[in-house]
Amino acid sequence: MKTELLARLAPYGQQHLVAFWERLDSAARRSLARQIREIDFELIARLYRHKDDRSDIGELADRAGPPPAFQLEAAENRFSPEQARDCGARAATDGHLGVILVAGGQGSRLGFEHPKGMFPIGPVSGRSLFQVHVEKIIAAGRRYGVRIPLYLMTSPATHDETVEFFTRHDRFGLAEDDLKIFCQGTMPAVDAATGKVLLDQPGHIAVGPDGHGGMLAALAGSGALEEIEQRGIRHLFYLQVDNSLVDICAVEFVGYHLLSESELSTQVVTKREPLEKLGNVVEVDGKLMTIEYSDLPDDVARRRNADGSLVLWAGSIAVHVMDMVFLRRMAGRNDILPFHIAQKKVGYVDPSGRRIEPEAPNAIKFERFIFDLMPSAANAIVVEVDPAEAFAPLKNAPGAEQDTPEWVKAQMAAQHRRWLRRAGVEVADDVPVDICPLWALDADEVAEKIEPGTRVTEPRYFC
Ligand code: UD1
Repeated sequence: MKTELLARLAPYGQQHLVAFWERLDSAARRSLARQIREIDFELIARLYRHKDDRSDIGELADRAGPPPAFQLEAAENRFSPEQARDCGARAATDGHLGVILVAGGQGSRLGFEHPKGMFPIGPVSGRSLFQVHVEKIIAAGRRYGVRIPLYLMTSPATHDETVEFFTRHDRFGLAEDDLKIFCQGTMPAVDAATGKVLLDQPGHIAVGPDGHGGMLAALAGSGALEEIEQRGIRHLFYLQVDNSLVDICAVEFVGYHLLSESELSTQVVTKREPLEKLGNVVEVDGKLMTIEYSDLPDDVARRRNADGSLVLWAGSIAVHVMDMVFLRRMAGRNDILPFHIAQKKVGYVDPSGRRIEPEAPNAIKFERFIFDLMPSAANAIVVEVDPAEAFAPLKNAPGAEQDTPEWVKAQMAAQHRRWLRRAGVEVADDVPVDICPLWALDADEVAEKIEPGTRVTEPRYFC
């Protein structure tokens, strides 16, 4: 077996991957051989050779302008919110909506030892992010008299624990047929200085998830794509696991998507400051695209209009509606999503077999981003939303300025407090409140459910 593996590795100078072969037992040998056979070394070599080709992003960014968008306060939007809501609600009632939730990331900034979706985020209830999302899906399904299925993408880093968590909690009430958990692929980490693939143990290659763009291949490879089509789902509502306020299956958004005959639609917020860590949705040569915050040159990000507003104002919150015909077409194009390069710290085994924990980034990881589909989509649109109602992502460990657990809980409680006050409830600013989506999905439902004269004087979970 070793000879066969060496023959595979030698053309790419990666023979060191079997340097500890003699030390491995037969199970470890089989597992390492499997890893080696799965890696496309030709691709790794090509990506490494081109790792410094970033000049085109700067040039693109220079030509980038703001995207046309359905804006919160714009009288000139092509369709009214009412038209959009009617149209989106019809699609929901007809059973054309499914949800895709990507949760394969390792959440390294948060420093939580488990998949991020397991984080207890409910400000009073302590419900997990997964539970919050699932209950919104079930509640939306009830409202439109349909069952809305959830396709949940994990990665090898999060898969087993996620499956176990959903099983332990009876899928938070989702029917068995309405949940499919599928796992995305991986890419090996390479040494930044030499391009050599890293071993993180003598018998194991260091790999990481291949980015949420890995969703395309994983949907097709797992059979989920076919299942979605067979079920008659025409549009997938896409969200990332960290956004606690995402308005899942928002029919107004779905309606703009349908009325515009868009293949891929994106929610944005107005950026609060030029270097905010959000993907920038821009228009270049009549095409929409997202330029990641880390790729946008500072001087371009800081450009302002005469009235002081940012030229590139549209920050992506990574909430999309995707057309299934489009996804099917794209899934057949293995070259459609480019790989992005990230410099990371990756622990590795040195030639003597010693494990090294680097103090500075030593490795390159390759990831694909789903938003790179944007320029390929017909009639792609951008819809602005109010962050107070649609965006509170859990990204950072306690101590950071925002996007921390405490900050996210405060945003959730603030939204629920607003809904209660609109329904006439008296509740003080310092009293945490928490509303289960199955009790009320929005302010109007709170108004229908609440007992007149309700006063809230201590932390309360409405469920
Ligand atoms: C991401 C977006 C950014 C957007 C912001 C909004 C990217 C590269 N950037 O930033 O444009 O403004 O969210 O919150 O996505 N994931 C996987 N598999 C992977 C990697 C990530 O499923 O291999 C999932 C994560 O679980 C998470 C989401 O993708 O749900 C976002 O990943 P993350 O790396 O946290 O992106 P951000 O830098 O926060």
